[in-house]
Amino acid sequence: MRTHFCGLVDEALIGQTVTLCGWADVARDLGGVCFIDLRDHEGIVQIVAEPSDAEGNAEVIAAASKVGYEDCLRITGVVRARHAVNEKIATGRVEVVATTIEVLNKADPLPFHAHENAGEDIRLRYRYLDLRRPQMQKMMRTRIKLVAALRRYLDGRGFQDIETPILTKATPEGARDFLVPARMHPGEFYALPQSPQLFKQILMMAGFDRYYQIARCFRDEALRADRQLEFTQLDMEFAWVTERDVQDMVEEMIRSVFREVIGVELAAEFPRMTYAEAMRRFGSDKPDLRIAMEFTDVAELVKNCEFKVFTDWANHADGRVIALRAPGGAQFSRKQIDELAAHAAKYGAKGLAWMKIEDAAKGREGISSPIAKFLDDATLSAIVEATGATTGDAIFFGAATYKLASDFMGALRLKLGRDLGLVQDGWKPLWVTDFPMFEWDEEEGRFVALHHPFTAPKIDDEGDLRANAATAVSRGYDMVLNGNEIGGGSIRIHRSSMQSAVFDLLGIGREEAEAKFGFLLEALRYGAPPHGGIAFGIDRIAALMAGTESIRDVIPFPKTTSAQCLMTGAPSPIPDAQLAEVHVRVREKDQPAS
Ligand code: AMO
Ligand code: AMP
Repeated sequence: MRTHFCGLVDEALIGQTVTLCGWADVARDLGGVCFIDLRDHEGIVQIVAEPSDAEGNAEVIAAASKVGYEDCLRITGVVRARHAVNEKIATGRVEVVATTIEVLNKADPLPFHAHENAGEDIRLRYRYLDLRRPQMQKMMRTRIKLVAALRRYLDGRGFQDIETPILTKATPEGARDFLVPARMHPGEFYALPQSPQLFKQILMMAGFDRYYQIARCFRDEALRADRQLEFTQLDMEFAWVTERDVQDMVEEMIRSVFREVIGVELAAEFPRMTYAEAMRRFGSDKPDLRIAMEFTDVAELVKNCEFKVFTDWANHADGRVIALRAPGGAQFSRKQIDELAAHAAKYGAKGLAWMKIEDAAKGREGISSPIAKFLDDATLSAIVEATGATTGDAIFFGAATYKLASDFMGALRLKLGRDLGLVQDGWKPLWVTDFPMFEWDEEEGRFVALHHPFTAPKIDDEGDLRANAATAVSRGYDMVLNGNEIGGGSIRIHRSSMQSAVFDLLGIGREEAEAKFGFLLEALRYGAPPHGGIAFGIDRIAALMAGTESIRDVIPFPKTTSAQCLMTGAPSPIPDAQLAEVHVRVREKDQPAS
């Protein structure tokens, strides 16, 4: 149908006749002369329909004057140099003088205009129109390039791409499962994989060292900008490895694809930080190191002061009092401080005490703060000194349990970093290691796994692990980039007895373990090699590379935060007859679960 792509018409073609196909991006009728911006996946070129002596020219002008937004056109014309060069587009030095204009398909009036900033709901409803827009094409292409670069890298190094089942048994990664009724087994269900975790471990036992897969994962969890119900992992597993082997291998891969896809050279060696250090300094297990702000622990300084909230937590065995210096924060108005407190409250803060250092030289007189009256001069100046705050800064305080104070002050740090313009440019990768093996779940009254139940503890002895479960550290690691967890993995348990002990500590009884993971426990008994791996979030890496905040921008057909596909209308009701086939009856909404 065509001889060239719109976006690739260039000066080398001047004088030649070309036939192009594309959408009318813009059409302007300037009374006698018409301009059409014709767009295909490569870009835009300007088409001109202007009076000439040629036969049929009136028809061309008439056709051009009727062209509307997003009409599908096939245009033949002659390439010529453009008078007014448009430096903004790659084809800006040329234009095509139309000799025929064929309307292949007229478009209805558009629900939104490609050039306007339409709301996300309408863009997702008409996703095909949205994806046509050059900025969406560009972001999607970044993802395509990323996946191609990863495959090239891994294929070139002898990694083996192996598929694992989608209809399977639950693999717990901490989310709810999606279930699929089994027609041939009334009352039974398949689960969609939350990740290929157990299959990839079994592949190590099956002798397929160096596995990878671009794997779709399904997790029924609350959606956010960086979370979808179904998302894509680069999933990897290796036999006969230590954590350092895995980390070195994949660090090199990540450096390579950043170089190739977006021309960014990441650090030659990613820094490492333990979970404990990350929580202590930044209140997050995925610290954004582009923000230079760090916590100062002030419990020691305030444990005898007059402010009860501080003394309570400073003297509590699991308490923490954090001070956070906000450079330039003295400029905040009361309203802004209230907004910051409201932000911290979203993460569980009961309050947010603050101090503005109006003039550091004046001591108490130079400080404005609702809590200054509770602190004596020595304490005030010790706090200012410990945080390094100076004239023009603010200090914010969080007091609560260790975990809660860290969480809300960590969230506050990110907001302050953004609000004060303190997020540096560039790329800050790091490894976070030494995660706690277990977390105590108050609601359930039992331990839950911080990574997943197949992660090996650093303690290699089951008895020691049982005795020290609350403080045990795992062999898990996360790769973090600019405050995003882009990958997570671990060295796995490779002995059946240790796996049983961990299930036991997680409150998974022998029978339940046998029913859910009997095949794994069994496989571990037949010479399972030491093994470990990692999975990267392709959507998250693509979003970072494309410079967008939301992974929805790099997923062609994402779900909304209310878990719907606005284009297809999924999820949707199923007729009773079809449900009967799979032995499912829908309970009335108000009927309690029995
Ligand atoms: P994990 O659960 O940490 O580990 O997932 C690995 C990476 O996948 C990405 N990710 C997500 N991306 C988009 N939407 C989601 N809902 C979502 N959940 C996770 C993150 C994360 O770092 N089986 C283990 C890996 C292993 O141990 O090898 C696992 O799935 O970038
Ligand atoms: P109050 O005496 O309760 O009005 O609190 C005085 C100041 O301490 C206010 O700015 C509160 O926001 C702050 N505050 C209260 N609870 C906490 C807390 N747990 N951590 C930090 N600041 C708090």
